[in-house]
Amino acid sequence: MKIKNIRLKNYRNYDNLNISFCDNLNIIIGDNAQGKTNLLEAIYVLAVTKSFLSINDHNLIKFGNKCSFIEGLIEKKNSTLDLEILLNDNGKFVKINHKEIKKLSEYISKMNVIIFSADSIRMLKESPSTRRKYFNIQISQINKRYLKMLTDYNIILRQRNEFLKIIDMNKKTDTDYLEIINDKYVDLSLKIYNFRDEYVKNINSYLGNMFFSITGFDGLKLKYISNIDNSRDNLLEKLNKNINKEIQYKMTLIGPNRDDFCFYLNDKNLSLYGSQGQMRSAIIALKMSEVFLFTDKVGDSPILLLDDMFSELDINKRNNILANLTHDVQTIITTTDIDNINENIRKKANVYEIKDGKLFPGK
Ligand SMILES: Nc1ncnc2c1ncn2[C@@H]1O[C@H](COP(=O)(O)OP(=O)(O)OP(=O)(O)O)[C@@H](O)[C@H]1O
Ligand SMILES: [Mg+2]
Repeated sequence: MKIKNIRLKNYRNYDNLNISFCDNLNIIIGDNAQGKTNLLEAIYVLAVTKSFLSINDHNLIKFGNKCSFIEGLIEKKNSTLDLEILLNDNGKFVKINHKEIKKLSEYISKMNVIIFSADSIRMLKESPSTRRKYFNIQISQINKRYLKMLTDYNIILRQRNEFLKIIDMNKKTDTDYLEIINDKYVDLSLKIYNFRDEYVKNINSYLGNMFFSITGFDGLKLKYISNIDNSRDNLLEKLNKNINKEIQYKMTLIGPNRDDFCFYLNDKNLSLYGSQGQMRSAIIALKMSEVFLFTDKVGDSPILLLDDMFSELDINKRNNILANLTHDVQTIITTTDIDNINENIRKKANVYEIKDGKLFPGK
């Protein structure tokens, strides 16, 4: 899919912006604090209705204003969508083709973007729950059923945790009820496990090669780490074995709520041993792998947004990344220095410059 243009009104440091994109490579140049990240963020917000930075929606409204507006035209394989988002004190309001959509869940995922930003690398250093959240979104993007299962799983997990706080193992009715909850819990846990396991296998079929073509090093893998496997019996046995501990901690200790996803470079955990450049290259390789996997599963490519990805990378890696960009995937790159992008690639791209929230044709 392609974003043909986007219009911003009172968004961050933009008063009014109207920018068109070409279907292939778009380069946005600008000094620090001119609005490069803000522009990519606006495209992201148009797709998912909130920022990729953990901030309040209110921060998106230009200082001193009451509302902010984004509108974009999206061309998909079989349809064209005009998407609109209005943010104000009363919340956010979305429209598709000028028709108001009441449920945000019906709006989200009509447009798909994959974004790399300075923030993306933090995922490696943060807690497992950050990575679970991240991969939940990625898996949901390519499979709507996963989101439904995850919602059901979270409901039963909450019920189970509530019950663990009050359970009396000497009461027959309590143990009967636990059995019923466990049955449902096991069912959904295994489904989540299988989705995550398959996703990681699929990503790995691209990730290692992608990392190699950027860095020249073999051996990058994403590992799915879980305290369960795909056996119903094993999970039930583990739950039974740990029930006293769970009652003591008053929470569920076994299941996909404890999963993690870790990057390994030749069996060394990248978060613990990787250099800044390696981590950056690994996350860029992940994003590019996601583009391929999404395209393969959904049959239309997502829009790739790469914010300031060149810092901390040497010239070879910069060029290798650019060489890996696919003509069919619409890509929007920001950079402070156009010299980061070699002449041949620049010539074929659509180049803009941004100064203080205003757009100029690029050199
Ligand atoms: N709600 C807002 N209203 C007005 N200005 C804002 C708002 N939020 C952020 N800004 C301003 O937007 C400016 C541009 O920010 P942005 O992050 O897009 O810069 P950038 O071009 O990506 O810079 P860098 O190269 O340093 O990453 C900053 O000066 C910031 O203070
Ligand atoms: Mg920026």
